[in-house]
Amino acid sequence: MAVSSSRIAPDDIGPDTVSITLRVNGVDHDLSVEPRVTLLDALRERLGLFGTKKGCDRGECGACTVLIDDRRYNSCLTLAVMQTGHEITTIEGIAQGDDLHPIQAAFIEQDAFQCGYCTPGQIISAVALLNEGHTASEAEIREWMSGNICRCGAYPNIVAAIQSVAASTHQESASQRSDSRQG
Ligand code: FES
Ligand code: FES
Repeated sequence: MAVSSSRIAPDDIGPDTVSITLRVNGVDHDLSVEPRVTLLDALRERLGLFGTKKGCDRGECGACTVLIDDRRYNSCLTLAVMQTGHEITTIEGIAQGDDLHPIQAAFIEQDAFQCGYCTPGQIISAVALLNEGHTASEAEIREWMSGNICRCGAYPNIVAAIQSVAASTHQESASQRSDSRQG
C-alpha cells in the first residue's frame, strides 16, 4: 500500500543526527550530521568548502580527492562520521597564505588544466604523490595519478607540472647534502 509522503517524518526514514567534530585545514568544526552523509557532502554543503569537487560521486573520477592524515582519499567514499580525530586537508588548505604550494604554481606554469574541474583533486593527489616519492619516471607518475581523471585530457601538462616540482625538490635536497658535507 502506498504511503502518503505527507505522513513520512524524518525519524521514520533514518537514524538521528550525530554530533561530530571535523578538523579541516587546521580548524575544528562542530557539526550535526546524519550518519549517511559523505565527507564530500559535509565539506561542500555544510562547511562551504566548494574547492573539493563532486564528479561521479562513486569513487571513479578522483575529483573529490582530499588528504586524511596526509593520505589521499576519495571523499565521496567515506562518511563524515568516520573522520573525527583525523586531520583533513582540502585544496583550500595547501597554500601558505598568499604563497601557493609549489605544485599549484607548477600547474599554472605548465598550463596543466583547461576547464579546471578536476584540478583540485589532481593537485591534492600530486601533493601526496610527491610525498610518497612516486616520481621516478613519467610512467610511474601516470600510474600513481591514474585515479584522477581529466575529461579535458590535460595529462601531459599535469605530468610536466609534477616532474618540474620533483626535479626542483631533488635539486634542493642534493644541494643540502653537498652543503652539509662541506660544513
Ligand atoms: S566524486 Fe569522488 S571519485 Fe568521483
Ligand atoms: S581540466 Fe577539465 S577535466 Fe581536467
